Amino acid sequence: MNIARRIIVALDFDNVDDAEAIVDRLGDTGQSYKVGLELLTVAGPTLATRLVGEGKDVFLDLKLFEIPTSVAGAVRAAGRLGATMVTVHAMGGSKIMEAAVRAAADFPQLHVIALTVVTSLTDTDLAAIGLSATIEEQVTRLTRLAQRAGCHGVVASPQDAALLRAELGPDMLIVTPGVTLQAEWNPPTEHARPAHPAAAIRAGATHIVIGRSLTRAPDPAAVLAHLEDELGSCQRPTT
Ligand code: C5P
Repeated sequence: MNIARRIIVALDFDNVDDAEAIVDRLGDTGQSYKVGLELLTVAGPTLATRLVGEGKDVFLDLKLFEIPTSVAGAVRAAGRLGATMVTVHAMGGSKIMEAAVRAAADFPQLHVIALTVVTSLTDTDLAAIGLSATIEEQVTRLTRLAQRAGCHGVVASPQDAALLRAELGPDMLIVTPGVTLQAEWNPPTEHARPAHPAAAIRAGATHIVIGRSLTRAPDPAAVLAHLEDELGSCQRPTT
């Protein structure tokens, strides 16, 4: 898979015009997009459908945490739309992940990606919700659960990528948000454990998700082109 498809641009916008403007500015350089709850809620699936029609990869970041029947229905809807990735919360347990994987089986292009621990959380946050595990222990536990449930990949912090690659073997996808670029236009970030995209790829991530430090840059296409060059020369993942 070419490196451009491994760099997923997060279209975190509160209106479809701004999201479309970024897609238009990125042109052929942008091959993979993440559409999340904010844009879906304001704009519906129109932009996702357009992107699929143009041959782009679309990661629908639905972060599903529901009863298995509802999760399966949402995954089928994502598959019919032509999405290539959909997220389910591993914290929701094996049954919902298994339901998601079964529902995705009818859509060969669709990968079920389990969300382990969101990158904004710290050990203290886990304790506050009643979990005595450290972030690392919780990520490992949920990753094992996701693999046993048949998920195609996991979302994880770039700093957990090496641990997870060792845990998962070579085949599963590791999708890492929480990456930052060193640049003067970088907005403040709430990521607790950020890393540069190249570090994430070298550690075994197959995909990175990049949002504001690219979409809010003065020249997003130049930032993406530079990133593609940089990551293209990193050690290539095997999947
Ligand atoms: O910070 P940035 O704008 O690059 O975020 C891109 C994506 O990373 C967001 O769409 C969000 O889903 C994910 N993210 C995350 N944890 C955070 C912040 C963002 O997983 N703390």
